[in-house]
Amino acid sequence: MIQERSIESYEIWSKDLTKIYEKRRNAFKAVSKINLRVKSGIHGFLGPNGAGKTTTINMLIGALSITSGKAKIRGKKSGSVAARRLIGYLPQDPVLYKSKTAEKYLIYMGRLGGLKRKEAKRKAQELLYYFDLLDERNKKLGKYSGGMKQKVALAAALIHDPDILILDEPTTNLDPVGRSAIIEQIKNLSKTMSIFISSHVLSEIEQICDTITILNRGEIILIDSLLNIKKKYIGNVFKLNTNMNAKIVEELKNNEFILRAWIDEKYGRIHIIPKDPEKLREMIQKIILDHEIKIYSFDQLELSLQDIFMRLINEVNHTK
Ligand SMILES: Nc1ncnc2c1ncn2[C@@H]1O[C@H](COP(=O)(O)OP(=O)(O)OP(=O)(O)O)[C@@H](O)[C@H]1O
Ligand SMILES: [Mg+2]
Repeated sequence: MIQERSIESYEIWSKDLTKIYEKRRNAFKAVSKINLRVKSGIHGFLGPNGAGKTTTINMLIGALSITSGKAKIRGKKSGSVAARRLIGYLPQDPVLYKSKTAEKYLIYMGRLGGLKRKEAKRKAQELLYYFDLLDERNKKLGKYSGGMKQKVALAAALIHDPDILILDEPTTNLDPVGRSAIIEQIKNLSKTMSIFISSHVLSEIEQICDTITILNRGEIILIDSLLNIKKKYIGNVFKLNTNMNAKIVEELKNNEFILRAWIDEKYGRIHIIPKDPEKLREMIQKIILDHEIKIYSFDQLELSLQDIFMRLINEVNHTK
């Protein structure tokens, strides 16, 4: 029997979490009854612009009031002191004090996070070292580049040793070098803490996440492990390219173990959907021997997270 996990065992948990923005006589439902189930590891929070990611995150960290439903961080009510202590948060557009130096800013943030001055100072040094900012620690933040600012903001999120790091689009404003540096740091950090990361850059999410939630127009349309998602959405489509594609495709069409076989218009390659993928290789081998053909390539069509994401979003938006 599968035991239902307790609420405390989830890093982030919500039940019917809803946000309605009230504007004079207009009400807009930005997040609608979402049930988050975030376990330890790295969890990707995906969705198109305006899906409600930042709104959700703001409710989770207690920066925005919840209209209805509830959210818990390791069983602690979101927004409570106990829940806030557990969380480190990197906003989508971090606002840093331009006139403060990186070191002073980090110490200040540490103090806000409840650290004693000495402790805040020690922790600031440690993080400046970790993010390779020691040489720049006395420079004012207004003079930092975008990538350096992002590092300082991430360091600030880590100053009180959180257990769960919530990152809202951490790589959006960075160049490719800055992006991969932050992604590497996120991977390293995930060894000691759980990470909940919203992003548009699905290739990055695909590299680092264990589980994923996809939000669309305020509703969850998918929540699963990346492994399951790939298993489920990878089509059993194989591509074959030989020196006799037209002949082979006819042969495959008449084979009782093949569901469909066709030649794609663009590249002229054979596409095959077998009834049993395990048997396909054997079958191809036999055809090669029977006809003495040359195989140029034979591989399975890989769907990227981006492909799956686009397909899902299109499907839901068309059925509504
Ligand atoms: N303060 C607000 N008042 C009214 N509507 C708001 C407010 N903040 C956000 N919204 C609306 O709520 C919806 C969700 O916005 P939100 O910022 O949560 O989306 P998002 O998924 O983070 O998008 P993005 O990927 O662009 O950051 C949008 O339609 C937005 O216009
Ligand atoms: Mg956002």
